[in-house]
Amino acid sequence: MEKFFVTTAIDYVNAPPHIGHALEKIQADVLARLHRQKSEEVFFLTGADEHGTKIFKAAREAGKEPQRFVDEMSEKFKELKQALNLSWDDFLRTTDKNRHWPAVFEIWKRIRNNGDIEKRKYQGLYCVGCEAFKNPKELVDAKCPEHLTEPEQIEEENYFFKLSKYAGEIESRIKSDELKIIPESRKNEILSFINRGVNDISVSRPKEKLAWGIPAPDDESQIIYVWIDALTNYISALGFGSKDAKNFEKFWPADVHFVGKDILRFHAVIWPGMLLSAGLPLPKTIFAHGFITVGGQKMSKSLGNIVSPFELAEKYGADAVRYYLLREVSAYEDGDFTEEKFKERYNGDLANGLGNFCARVLTLAQGDTNIQTYANDTNVNKKIKETTEVVDKKLEEFKFNEALAAIWDLISFGDNYVNITEPWHAVEPGRTRALVNLIYLLENVAQLLMPFLPQTSEKIFGSIVKTDKTLQIKKGGILFPRV
Ligand code: MSP
Repeated sequence: MEKFFVTTAIDYVNAPPHIGHALEKIQADVLARLHRQKSEEVFFLTGADEHGTKIFKAAREAGKEPQRFVDEMSEKFKELKQALNLSWDDFLRTTDKNRHWPAVFEIWKRIRNNGDIEKRKYQGLYCVGCEAFKNPKELVDAKCPEHLTEPEQIEEENYFFKLSKYAGEIESRIKSDELKIIPESRKNEILSFINRGVNDISVSRPKEKLAWGIPAPDDESQIIYVWIDALTNYISALGFGSKDAKNFEKFWPADVHFVGKDILRFHAVIWPGMLLSAGLPLPKTIFAHGFITVGGQKMSKSLGNIVSPFELAEKYGADAVRYYLLREVSAYEDGDFTEEKFKERYNGDLANGLGNFCARVLTLAQGDTNIQTYANDTNVNKKIKETTEVVDKKLEEFKFNEALAAIWDLISFGDNYVNITEPWHAVEPGRTRALVNLIYLLENVAQLLMPFLPQTSEKIFGSIVKTDKTLQIKKGGILFPRV
C-alpha cells in the first residue's frame, strides 16, 4: 500500500487561531483526503508549538501559568478540526514530555555526536516575534520589518549548530529537486538565500533568560531553541527516539510539509541541516503558501482585524469557509479576505452556481425510475474526463484555486446542458437520455468535490441513492441558502 505523510506547521498558541492558520490546515486536508480516496495509507499531522519567549510572554500577560495557558489555548486549535471538518490523524503538542521531548533529545544527541554542536559566546539581536536572531542588515529603522519592534540585544553563552557545514549539500538537494520546493519562485528565493552565505546558528539560550522550553541533554543550564524543538515535531509524532518507532520507519520521510512563506527558510535550510547532521532522510516536498490579508492589510491584534474561522463557519458553514480560502486565495501568492467578497463568492459560486445546478437536476430527475448512472453522450464524457485530468494536474501543483475553477467550469457545462436539452419539454427517449447525462454529471461533480467540500459532496451523493437496477433520486434540502 502506498503511504502518504502530510504535515502542517504547528501553530504558536499565543492567541486563538485565525483564518491564516485555517487556510494551511484546509489545504493540507484536501491533499490528505485526496490520497485517502486513492486508497493510500495517509498520516496527516498537525499540532501546537508551545514553547519559547512569545508564548511565555503571552501567558504572563494573561496572568496564567504557561502550562495552563497552553493547555487552554491548544484546545482552541484542536477545535478547528470539528469546525472546519478537518481530517488530521494526529495533533502533536511540543509540551508533551512523553511523545515529543524524547525525540528532541535524540536528534540533539545525534547532531552533537556528529560534532555539529558547540558552545560559543554570542552577541546578537533577537526578535521575539520571529523567534529568531536578526542580521542588522535585515532591520529597517532598527526594527524588525515583519513585527515593527526593536529586537533585543543579547549577549550570552549558547550552543551553536554548525549549519554552514551543510549549506552545499542542502543547495544541491534543492537544485536537483530531491528536496522539492514549490512554487518555483520560492525555490529560487531559497537558493539565492543560500548563495548569500549560510551561518552557523545559535540553538540554545541560558535557562535564566528563557525557562519555558526543553533543556539540552546533559546541560540543564541551557534551553533548546524553540525552532529546533518545533521542527522535530514532524518526527516525534511518528515515535522517533521512542521505543515504538514503527510509524517513523513507515512514514518518514514526509511527502509534503505545508508551510507559510514566512517560515520557509526554517524548513528549507535549518530542518534539512538538522536531518543531514543526524543522518536522517530529508522530506520530499515543501510547499510554501502565501498569506491571507484582511481588506489588504496584514492581520494583527493591534489592527484589530483578526478574522475568526469559528465565527465564519458558524455563520456560513464549514464548506463555505473551505471554499473561500481554497478558491479566492491563490495558493502561490497572497490573497485577501473581506466579508463582502466572502458573501459574493458564497452567493455567486455556491448558492447560484453549485447549489442551483444541483437543485435543477434533482428537481427534474426526482421520482424518475428510468435513470441509471452513466453518460450516453460523448460530449459529457469528454468534458468530465478533461475536467478530472485538469483537477489532478492542478492538485499536483498545489493550485487549489485552479482545480476548483475547473470543477466550476464543469458545473457551467452542466447548467448549459440543462438549457440546451430542456428536459421539461423533451419527449422520450430524449428526456430520459438528458436526465441520465445530468445525473452522471452531478455525480462526477460531487466526486471531484469530495476532498474540497466533503459535507456538500456527501449531501449530493445522499440524493442519488443506488438500488439494484436503477437510481432513486431524492431532492434534498438547499445546499447553500442565499445570504
Ligand atoms: N510555530 C511556528 C511554526 C513551527 S513549524 C515547525 C509558526 N507558527 S504561527 O502560528 O506563527 O504560524 C503557523 C502557520 O500559519 C505558518 O505556516 C504561517 O505561515 C501560517 N500563517 C500565519 N499567518 C498567516 C496568514 N495571515 N495567512 C496565511 N498563513 C499564515 O510560525
